[in-house]
Amino acid sequence: MKLRIDKMLANTGIGSRKEIKQDAKKGLVTVNGTVVKDSSKIIDTDTDVVKYNGEIVRYIQHIYLLMNKPQGVVSATEDNYDRTVVELLSEEDRFYEPFPVGRLDKDTEGLLLITNDGQLAHDLLSPKKHVDKTYYAEVAEEVTREDVKAFEEGIILTEENYKTLPAKLEIIESGYPSKCLVTIKEGKFHQIKRMFKSVNNEVVFLKRISMGPLKLDENLKPGEYRHLTEEEINSLLQRK
Ligand code: URA
Repeated sequence: MKLRIDKMLANTGIGSRKEIKQDAKKGLVTVNGTVVKDSSKIIDTDTDVVKYNGEIVRYIQHIYLLMNKPQGVVSATEDNYDRTVVELLSEEDRFYEPFPVGRLDKDTEGLLLITNDGQLAHDLLSPKKHVDKTYYAEVAEEVTREDVKAFEEGIILTEENYKTLPAKLEIIESGYPSKCLVTIKEGKFHQIKRMFKSVNNEVVFLKRISMGPLKLDENLKPGEYRHLTEEEINSLLQRK
């Protein structure tokens, strides 16, 4: 793949393009053994050996994006009717062909990981891995201690006659609507909505606030996203 040195190094998480430009000027970047002070130079990641501060930099083909998914957009790469989360990405990021890890409903907001790392996506979605997902939910009716107990014991999803794994329901405020946090370890279709339905309640607002070690970045407005930090990427990859 051919791309600018600053972009290539920034993509690997070494620093911002501005920092890399300065570092290149200082002589910290070499390509095939020659110091390159102009970080806008195009290199070929397949054949050129790029070193930063004496260390070979392996080009990372994976990108990891954290989006605050807005309502009204579907968690897909393509759709005939609706706008997709991938359409909200810059052309630069779409180049890497990322896809959303799992689905949030069209009317659900919040944390969505978008990546082209298929192995990581597979691991995070695997039912065997039991990755915690926490949602902030507003529901139409009062939430009771009995509901907390029922979620803890597991709810039967009638369509597939499946009993959910123990889920944690924390009441923030009980009323009309009620506000709560729900943590589940799996991701059945419309799971949170169906769990509340089975205790005669109805989700009126749903937002995912965490998935495994990843937390929603409250600085991101709905529809905005950012690249994961190196620390966040490592926390995810360590799960493997
Ligand atoms: N549960 C739901 O019902 N919807 C979502 O989008 C996610 C979890």
